[in-house]
Amino acid sequence: MGIIVAIDGPAGSGKSSTAKEVARRLGFTYVDTGAMYRTVTLEALRRKVDVKNKNQVAQIAQEITISFKWIEDVHHTFLNDEDVSDKIRSSMVADMVSQVSAIPGVREVLAERQRQMAMIDNIVMEGRDIGTNVFPDADYKFYMDADIRVRAHRRIKDYKNIGQDLSIDEIARELQKRDKIDSSRSHSPLKKAKDAIIIDTTDLTFEEQVKKIVTIIQH
Ligand code: DC
Repeated sequence: MGIIVAIDGPAGSGKSSTAKEVARRLGFTYVDTGAMYRTVTLEALRRKVDVKNKNQVAQIAQEITISFKWIEDVHHTFLNDEDVSDKIRSSMVADMVSQVSAIPGVREVLAERQRQMAMIDNIVMEGRDIGTNVFPDADYKFYMDADIRVRAHRRIKDYKNIGQDLSIDEIARELQKRDKIDSSRSHSPLKKAKDAIIIDTTDLTFEEQVKKIVTIIQH
């Protein structure tokens, strides 16, 4: 088992960008577990499987291969051999992903794959349940959070990048709806681990966020 850095928190808390940079500075492998739930969601939408059909959605998680690759400093997600990095960020996937990730069978398959990834490498893994469920004994645990308006502002850019123009209010509503489902589901909900260090990023710059985490790990 390598060194495990778990970073959890809600969408727009700055988790992904921070986790990526922390991994780069430490020379660790970065794992985006949200992208894994999004990829299963994309495939369920493509196959027109109703998310209420939990067994069928869990079967999809079993069948597909999800992998990551850095291409010219950009982190890409693959569904089998197809690059789905942009497709998994669409608002259609965002709307459905909380329902897919509430399915216990899906969570069990993906959590097992996440545990296998730590067998070989030192990792920075970000998600919702990494410090609580996937790696309750992680070497370092962080919980990132921020004010809802700040989080919505951060997401606006992500949507613009894929050509979707959404208002702050629309995005704030989407985030709140997802937070609610993610924190109230019965299987491994979004929750701060008791021993996680809280990083509130509302008033922090990106560099400050990264430094806080890297400094704790290196000391
Ligand atoms: O981090 P993100 O916004 O890309 O995650 C998408 C969704 O996946 C999020 O709404 C909840 C779910 N998720 C989860 O349930 N558990 C994880 N470890 C990561 C993400």
